[in-house]
Amino acid sequence: MQGALPFAVLISGRGSNMLALARAVDEGLIAGRVAVVISDQPQAAGLAEARRRGLAAEVVETAGGTDRAALGHALTAILERHDAKLVALAGFMRILDAGFVRHWQGRLLNIHPSLLPAHRGLHTHRRVLAAGDALHGCTVHFVTAELDAGPAVIQGRLAVQPGDTEDSLSARVQQLEHIIYPRAVGWFAGGRLGWKDGAAMLDGRPLTTPVIEGA
Ligand code: GRF
Repeated sequence: MQGALPFAVLISGRGSNMLALARAVDEGLIAGRVAVVISDQPQAAGLAEARRRGLAAEVVETAGGTDRAALGHALTAILERHDAKLVALAGFMRILDAGFVRHWQGRLLNIHPSLLPAHRGLHTHRRVLAAGDALHGCTVHFVTAELDAGPAVIQGRLAVQPGDTEDSLSARVQQLEHIIYPRAVGWFAGGRLGWKDGAAMLDGRPLTTPVIEGA
């Protein structure tokens, strides 16, 4: 598509959010195109799926190493080769170094399976159940140096039901993820969403609270 914003999706596994983004592009919901899908895991199911769809798909080379700065440099080299103007983390299970985050600041989004700032980190569904939370969901946020702590853009919310399990929550949260991530990337590609002085901006105004979808 002419003038479409090239964006990259970084994955480590299944890649269902990557697919939701690719579908939203195909449906004309995002004025962008998937420039490249990058994985640290050569065997990631999402990588094969991306190739099947005809998308550029690459494995970041220092995947075996533990040097975060080297990973960041390798990622940036791939991203720049594909002219990515936005990076969407979608289940990318590596911690990114501060240099990478600084370089891409304001152009780096993540999706996290909780209502941030609640439940940063892993095993969010289990922790929601253990805490007896009434509400759960997912958050798209700009990435900053602190893990899962950057400005939130949009949240998908659902009510936890009696009898919910980790699996049932995971399935329902993913459905919401596939709605809110394309929406956020669509806003960015359409010039509505941006970053200014450490804040997420939507339609020219700082987002003091995220946009809410669902319960
Ligand atoms: C999602 O639940 C996302 O919130 C988290 O990792 C998972 C990725 O799932 N960051 P998928 O690979 O997109 O299916």
